[in-house]
Amino acid sequence: MRANTPPNWVPPFEAYEAKYDEDTKPLAVAYVGVQDRGGDAQISLQSARALLSIENGPDIIEQGWSSDVPGAHMHILMAYWRHAEAFANWRASAELNAWLTAGSDPLIGRWIETSEIRPRALDTLIADTEVNWGVAKLADEVVASPYHAYWGGTRDRILLSETDALESEVGLADVLPRKMPAGVHEIIDVVLPENAVFTRGGPDWSQCPPDEMQQIRNSVYPAYVAGGRYLRDNPEESGCYACYFIQETDEAGNDVQRNHQIGYFVELSKLEDWTKNHPTHKAIFGRFMSMMTKLPRPPQMNLYHEVSPIAAGGLRATYVNCLPETGLLRYGQVRGEADAS
Ligand code: HEM
Repeated sequence: MRANTPPNWVPPFEAYEAKYDEDTKPLAVAYVGVQDRGGDAQISLQSARALLSIENGPDIIEQGWSSDVPGAHMHILMAYWRHAEAFANWRASAELNAWLTAGSDPLIGRWIETSEIRPRALDTLIADTEVNWGVAKLADEVVASPYHAYWGGTRDRILLSETDALESEVGLADVLPRKMPAGVHEIIDVVLPENAVFTRGGPDWSQCPPDEMQQIRNSVYPAYVAGGRYLRDNPEESGCYACYFIQETDEAGNDVQRNHQIGYFVELSKLEDWTKNHPTHKAIFGRFMSMMTKLPRPPQMNLYHEVSPIAAGGLRATYVNCLPETGLLRYGQVRGEADAS
């Protein structure tokens, strides 16, 4: 039993968590984006793929697109490293810096958001052992979890929380620069404060039969979209720095039946507050549970999330020639200007 587990708890349905060997050093994730505002995105996208194939490149790459920034279509590569040392070399490489700054098309932006993931500070919750996403693909094993289906399960699954409250000493408002970056024509660097949280969560509905699809379309899905929009549009109230929706694709760029939302939270308690108390995740949760009772079999919709509170300096981003609404851009500083006031 862990801190939040109800006494004699037996979860009412199965869910799984990714496990890593005790001595596993940090892993890492990079979201690499090309922001298309009417230019030729293919050149940047091809060079982004090449960038991920250089020495010390990632172990897995997934892909998708997002239209959450008004006036732009974003192509996104989601890359995960099993070894943070390789990631650190790649992150510091001349090739990455060259890729970020090499674009000459004024209608194309390039960006990167990276997080170093400590296995003891990681929560994954996975509905099906065979349908793995993201960091769970790099796990040593995926095991049934007794610590779920109650609020506080995320904190219980994060082993580091036994000794660390995982709080942020710096609120969201304090990291906003006094002069907002323009974004376009600028290079913006961002470092989020210690214990900021990287989250990725969403559904895979590729295995859903028609009756379940109908309930998802009419009930669960609209609530899921509304939840992400709330986080995207209300950073100060929610404590979520930024949130955007990614439709996943295959390598050829065709949509697959899977998407997710990326959320960067100020600290774990803000994410917990949203999931447990906010009407939007309560609606997502409630409609999903109601669908479970209405279907004649367990849902075939596979839910997945990963939650990582990040150590100091481990959550960074760079935006080049991107709109100010992009990702974490508004929390950054123009490169070369120590204080943008
Ligand atoms: C279709 C979309 C979604 C559905 C149906 C859904 C449903 C659920 C359900 C059923 C649980 C309880 C799981 C358990 O403990 O067994 C849960 C918890 C949780 N969800 Fe969602 N969710 C969705 C989207 C998201 C998104 C987008 C995020 C974050 C980016 C997210 C973050 C979480 C977290 C962190 C918890 C655990 C809270 C805690 O343990 O205290 N969910 N959700």
